[in-house]
Formats: sequence, structure tokens, C-alpha cells
Amino acid sequence: MICSSPMIRFLFLATVAAFFLGGVVVPIRCLQFDFPLFTDESQTELILHNNARIYLNATQVTPDVRGDPITNKSGRAVYKDPFLIRHRGKIASFNTTFELNILPQTHPAGGEGLAFILAADHSVPLDSYGQWLGIVNAATNGTPEARIIAVEFDTRKSYPEDIDSNHVGLDLNSVFSIEQKPMAEFGVNISSGISFFSMIQFDGFNISVFVSMSNKTEDLLKNRVIFQPLNLSILPDEVYVGFSASTSNFTQLNCVKSWQFSGTDIGNHKKKIHLWIWLTVAGIGALLIIGAIVAIIFHICTRDRRMNHPEESYEGLEHQLQDFSIAPQAKKFELKELKKATNNFDPKNSLGKGGFGTVYKGNLMNREVAVKRISKDSRQGKQEFIAEVATIGSLHHKNLVKLIGWCYEKRDLLLVYEFMPNGSLDKLIFNNKINGIQVNPNWETRHNIIVGVAEALDYLHNGCEKTVLHRDVKSSNIMLDSKFVAKLGDFGLARTMRRTEQTHHSTKEIAGTPGYMAPEIFLTSRATAETDVYAYGVLVLEVICGRKPGNPLDLGSYEGSIAHWVWEFHKEERLVEAVDESIEGQFVKEEIEYLLILGLSCCHPNPLARPSMRTVLAVLKGEANPPILPNERPSFVWPPMPPSFKEDTSDSSLKDTHLVPFTELSGR
Ligand SMILES: *[C@@H]1O[C@H](CO)[C@@H](O)[C@H](O)[C@H]1NC(C)=O
Ligand SMILES: *[C@@H]1O[C@H](CO)[C@@H](O)[C@H](O)[C@H]1NC(C)=O
Ligand SMILES: *[C@@H]1O[C@H](CO)[C@@H](O)[C@H](O)[C@H]1NC(C)=O
Ligand SMILES: *[C@@H]1O[C@H](CO)[C@@H](O)[C@H](O)[C@H]1NC(C)=O
Ligand SMILES: *[C@@H]1O[C@H](CO)[C@@H](O)[C@H](O)[C@H]1NC(C)=O
Ligand SMILES: *[C@@H]1O[C@H](CO)[C@@H](O)[C@H](O)[C@H]1NC(C)=O
Repeated sequence: MICSSPMIRFLFLATVAAFFLGGVVVPIRCLQFDFPLFTDESQTELILHNNARIYLNATQVTPDVRGDPITNKSGRAVYKDPFLIRHRGKIASFNTTFELNILPQTHPAGGEGLAFILAADHSVPLDSYGQWLGIVNAATNGTPEARIIAVEFDTRKSYPEDIDSNHVGLDLNSVFSIEQKPMAEFGVNISSGISFFSMIQFDGFNISVFVSMSNKTEDLLKNRVIFQPLNLSILPDEVYVGFSASTSNFTQLNCVKSWQFSGTDIGNHKKKIHLWIWLTVAGIGALLIIGAIVAIIFHICTRDRRMNHPEESYEGLEHQLQDFSIAPQAKKFELKELKKATNNFDPKNSLGKGGFGTVYKGNLMNREVAVKRISKDSRQGKQEFIAEVATIGSLHHKNLVKLIGWCYEKRDLLLVYEFMPNGSLDKLIFNNKINGIQVNPNWETRHNIIVGVAEALDYLHNGCEKTVLHRDVKSSNIMLDSKFVAKLGDFGLARTMRRTEQTHHSTKEIAGTPGYMAPEIFLTSRATAETDVYAYGVLVLEVICGRKPGNPLDLGSYEGSIAHWVWEFHKEERLVEAVDESIEGQFVKEEIEYLLILGLSCCHPNPLARPSMRTVLAVLKGEANPPILPNERPSFVWPPMPPSFKEDTSDSSLKDTHLVPFTELSGR
């Protein structure tokens, strides 16, 4: 075939070589970047230390573990390339603007603060938590070894030198600021949980710090908080720019939501400039020519393939799918069949959006179906698709949504499921409406749903050849058939995991839905059977209490998660009062309390103390008692302590899956 000819290989190598040359001539001294928000891709541009990570489109400088104690932490997030601030007597200048959001987690106030830093070192000093803001520690504070300049956004008066618990300060090698200003007079409350903006300008001599609730430059310019001559001689010639933050006994979520930086280029490449220009021009010219040739040949190639072998365009995908030994039950459809079935993806037939695409109602061979069309701009689309076909395609269970077929044509990815006339569980509980008709799910319906989902998860964890982790159990992923039987769907995030495999590759990304994610996920970034159990526990509480799982990051919502909320009732021994009013009188008090306790034990902050799905199912069937729960909600402690109660050890899944990472089905 023409595509594998030596000619193409030569062109490919030539392109690589040209790119390489191009890379050599690009100057790297000048530092400019803009993160309008932080994504998984931004992670490759940053160096994250200790507890810093990217989550919810922001850089969380100290960890964000949804309402659990995050005491005594420090973290640092800096740009990957250092910035040249001094070169042969010249001093660079820079401007930077960023958006911060600091939400207290302890009462009456959080701590400790966040700082913009210029530092010799990208890593966080040891023991720099608490008052040290991740800037210095007790040993380096005030010494020349610290080699750091920081603009601190201090949210706690931790020592007498701090003027108050809401100030901005300029720190040189020390947390004791050389200049500090209370923020109250500028109308800014740093730790209110509301985002605010700061702009810092350094002109090579004076530093100006501006702070405002508004991101408009003119508003920022009105609030100059600090204006000081600044001598950079305490820093080396090259520094890392970024943020550090810390918590103490008092905690808060410290996040940077956007960040722009522009620094001048004072490197000296004048002598090389002629060669430089020459190489650039030559490089670009070569690239253009090669690019054009490659494009033409690629075009001919693909046209050729499509004309001769229409099937081949998704040959690779089919191979991949075969690797996962898909049961033949999932049929391959043609795009035109599905277009016809959905009236050309008529928006009127749309059942909803989510899980990386839009779902349409359709009619295939006189059978109602739901067709999910994975959006083409979803980068993960293909991996989701493969995960979904590979997992549900090979599973059979009455409580799993059935995959009827799939289609991959013209880069269009489609999945065909059985149609669920009663929609998703969240709509049933929270809107109480199905197809516009008012319904109120009674206790029996809710109980059956709770049992159905448990059976599905038990099957995934223990019932099939490989353990399958769903990773995104939530009410909007539970579908209801005509008899309100619950069917777990949306396997876009699912992963299979070989039971015995003990390899330790972990993925950096955090997947799941806030409110349903177990606290340890934010530290380990790793899905386990226990994290699925946690999400199931949230779901149980949600269904019984008719209350949303809650997301502590949403301002205006109640404090913490639904588990916190229900635990308060448990503590005061009035659990039954947490039950949704609309099902009052339909249940036996002891039975519903059992289920709430079961739900809470699934939401135990300690993963080792959570029951397995096998045990959950035994409790639901009345074959076992629910685990004994402490009255006071235990704190989240990492690493986890051994469980406070004994689980039946005959069930090996908990032991086996604990800390065993899933085998990577995809790179997501
Ligand atoms: C946090 O650090 C402080 C001071 O170093 C210490 O007193 C406190 O016990 C620590 N808290 C935790 C939960 O480790
Ligand atoms: C910083 O902003 C000032 C004022 O807008 C501008 O004069 C200066 O050139 C900027 N410096 C850099 C490095 O972008
Ligand atoms: C800032 O906001 C927090 C959270 O709303 C509040 O507890 C604190 O009292 C406020 N601080 C000031 C100085 O207004
Ligand atoms: C720095 O600020 C001082 C006033 O504090 C001013 O006299 C000086 O001109 C400023 N220098 C520069 C380079 O803007
Ligand atoms: C900064 O400090 C160093 C050493 O203390 C001194 O040599 C230098 O002149 C200072 N630079 C300015 C611009 O004041
Ligand atoms: C932190 O709390 C512990 C007890 O939980 C206490 O002993 C310690 O003094 C506190 N430390 C600070 C710095 O507040």
C-alpha cells in the first residue's frame, strides 16, 4: 500500500528533523503564558508539588478533599520553565494577573493563606505548612538560604507580626512581611470564597500589587495595595514563578482559577541573530513544503482507502474492540441506519446531553432505542467509546443498561442502547416529573432502585471475570425502565481491573463527579472498588432523603456533603428525620434507619471501613446487619487506619482491590 512506502517514511523523518531544527532556534528566554483556566493539558506546563493538583478547572495549591480535614498541608504550583530575571547587569520586568478563590473549611475562619512567589527552587520546603505558607520553614525563615520573594494573601493572623486575618504582604526570604496592607479598606475579603483578582507589575525597580473584586484593568489600577522598590539580588538569575499555599489546624481550599504572565526577554542572543533568522526562515520554508507534500499524499492515500475499502476506516477501532473480547451481542450499525432511526439526529428527539455526547431517541426496526452520539470535539470521545463498548458490550445483567450496538463511521462515534421510558433517577427524585407527568416515587420504588443498583455494582465488582470499576456512579447515570427497574448506565469512565494484578501504574487524572467522589481520590487519584462503594452510599442517601449530594465548592449550597448532613442526624439519634417528607408513613422506621446507616457506612471517610458491595447486598436482603457506625463522623485520615469494625473476611474483593490500580484500558 502506498501509505507504508519508503517515500512516506522519508518524508516523515524529514518533517521530524525540520521540527527539531525549528525547536532549536526558538528562543526560550522570554516567558509568556496565559491560563484562562486550568485543564489536564495545563498540567504539562506546570510543576506541581506536594498537594497541589489541577481539579475543577483550577489549580488547587493545597488539596481539595471535599469537606474533609486537610490540616497541616503545604503545596506549590509553578510554571515549568524558569524565568531569567537578571543577565549581565540587566533586570527583567514582568506583569502578571491571576484570579484566586479561597474558601474556608473550618469555623469561624480558615487558614493560612496563599502566595504568589518568585523562588530559586520549585519544590516546597519541608514542614512549611501552617504559618509558613509553603514559602519557608522554621529553619530557613529570615535566612538568605530561603531565596524567595512572595506576595502573600494572608487569611490568618498566625503571629503578632501579622496585622490581621485579611491582608496582603510583601515577603523577602521570610514570612514576616516588609510591607503589609489590610484588605478591608479595599473592599476585598480574601477568604470569602468569592473569586477576586490581583495584578502584580514589576518594572525592574518598583513592584506594584493591585487587588480587586473585578478583573477589569481599570478597576484593578484603582486599588494599588503595595508600591515598593524591590531589589531582586536575593534571588538567583533564574527563578520559578508560581504559587504556594498552606493550611494549619485551620483549613481552606486555596485555588488559582486563571493566571496570565508576561516577562521581558533580557537574554542575549544578538550575536546569533543572523544564523537564527536564517535557520528560522529555512526551517519554516522546509516545513511548509514538506507539510504540503505530506498533506497531498495523505489526501490521496485516504481517498484511495475509502474508495477501495470503505470498511477500513474503522478497522483499527474494531481491532481494539476485539482485543477486549466483545460479546457478539453488540451489533455494528451503519451510520445511515442510525440517521434514519433518529430522523437525522433531530434535536426534537434529543433525550439529553452528558457523558461526552447527546442522546437521541430513535426507532430501529420498530424498536425504541436511545442513540448516543459522541461529540466530535470531545477529545476523550474515542476512549470513552471503546471503554463503553468494551465494558457494557461484554456484560449481561438485569440492572445494567443494555448496549444493542455501535457505529463508527466518518469519525462519528455512536452507541445504541435499549430505550428507557422513565428517564434517569435524578429527574425522578428531584423533578418528580417523567415526560411532563407528575410522579412521586414511593418508598417501594426507591427501595427497589437501591437494591437494583447494588446488584449491578456487586455484579461489576465480584460477578464477572474481571473486576469492573464504574467510576461514575450517580443518580443521573441510573436509568429506569417501564417498571422503574434501575439500570446502571454510562460506562464511559469504567475500567476493568484484573483481580490478581499488582502492578502500580497510577493515572494522574481524577475522574468522577463532585459530590460522589470519595475523599481519598483527591490524594491517590485512583479508583478502587471502595470509591465506587462511596458513590453508591451517596446515592442511597440521596434516594432516601430526596436531597442532592452537595458540592462544598458551590457557594450558597449547604456546608459539606450529604453524608455530613445525615451523620448529624445519626449523632443526635434522630436519623428518621432525614428521610424525604414525601414518603412519610410508607416505611418501617427500623428498616429505613438500617438503610441510612448502610448508606453512611458506604460513605465512611476511611475506605477500609466501607463495606464491600457483597456485604451491602447481604444487608439489603436482610442476611446481615449493617456495620456499626460511630456516632461522631470520623475524620478523614490518610493513609487509612485499619477498619474500626470487622468485615466478613471471606469476601476477598475488598482486600484484593484495595490499592490495586486498574489496568489502563485507555490513557484517559
Ligand atoms: C498541625 O500542626 C500543629 C502545629 O505544628 C500541631 O499542633 C497539630 O497537632 C497538627 N495537627 C494535626 C491534625 O496533625
Ligand atoms: C507591563 O504593563 C505595563 C503597563 O501596562 C507596560 O508598560 C509594560 O510594558 C508591561 N510589561 C511587560 C513585561 O509586559
Ligand atoms: C470573610 O468571609 C468569611 C466567609 O464568608 C467570613 O467568615 C469572614 O468573617 C469575612 N472576613 C471579613 C474580614 O469580613
Ligand atoms: C519607583 O518609585 C519611586 C517612588 O517611590 C520613583 O521615584 C521612581 O521613579 C520609581 N522608579 C521607576 C523605575 O519607576
Ligand atoms: C540591590 O542590592 C545589591 C546588594 O545588596 C546591591 O549591590 C545593588 O546595587 C542593589 N540594586 C539596586 C537596584 O538597588
Ligand atoms: C492545633 O490543634 C491541636 C489540638 O488539636 C493543639 O494542640 C495545637 O496547639 C493547635 N495548634 C495551633 C498552631 O493552633
